[in-house]
Amino acid sequence: MLPKSAAVLIWVLGIVSFSFTSAQTINLPTLKPGIFEASARIEIDAPLLDVWNVLLDFPAYSEWNPFVRSQVVADHFRVPTPDQVVEEDRRLIIKVQIPPLQNPVDANSPSNPFHSQVSLENITHIDVGNRRMAWRAIFLPEQLLDSERWQALSTSEEGKTLYEAREIFRGPLSHVVDALFAKGLQDGFDAQAVALKTRTENQ
Ligand SMILES: *[C@@H]1O[C@H](CO)[C@@H](O)[C@H](O)[C@H]1NC(C)=O
Repeated sequence: MLPKSAAVLIWVLGIVSFSFTSAQTINLPTLKPGIFEASARIEIDAPLLDVWNVLLDFPAYSEWNPFVRSQVVADHFRVPTPDQVVEEDRRLIIKVQIPPLQNPVDANSPSNPFHSQVSLENITHIDVGNRRMAWRAIFLPEQLLDSERWQALSTSEEGKTLYEAREIFRGPLSHVVDALFAKGLQDGFDAQAVALKTRTENQ
């Protein structure tokens, strides 16, 4: 058996190396660590503004997004807003497929009812200057389950657009989410990144 201090040291090193690997992002802010996370990054051969516009065009998500099949901007009473303008402190009603549908999808691709989930989120950041956006789930007390999803764009050295996404789950109930959905969620992030690339490079 290891002496206690050695065990603690190994544990600390484990945390440090974990935070190093997960912190290697270009344009995402530093986020408080959680129990688990899903993330994606992909390089896109299209102008940053085109990708930004596709990301913010929620009504068109059903035409290309195999993971987020519907994302509706709503007011504080969960009533969809007629303008669908994406603003901080508005709500989002998000319908996802976990695991995602098979790429490619279009507006008529049927959802799998067994894989459908709906969540209510708060738009916490629309940072046009830094090309970042984020939302946070509001379904349970934050102490039990807190999930925060960030997406960001930047221009790479080769002049391509880098898309980065990361969602962190915190709180004791995240262990349950982790056990049930971590793999499907990660597949969803990957599938959305690939579909975003295809959509923006071909438009
Ligand atoms: C939603 O996000 C906005 C902007 O960050 C914040 O001011 C507001 O307090 C949040 N509302 C809720 C219910 O979390």
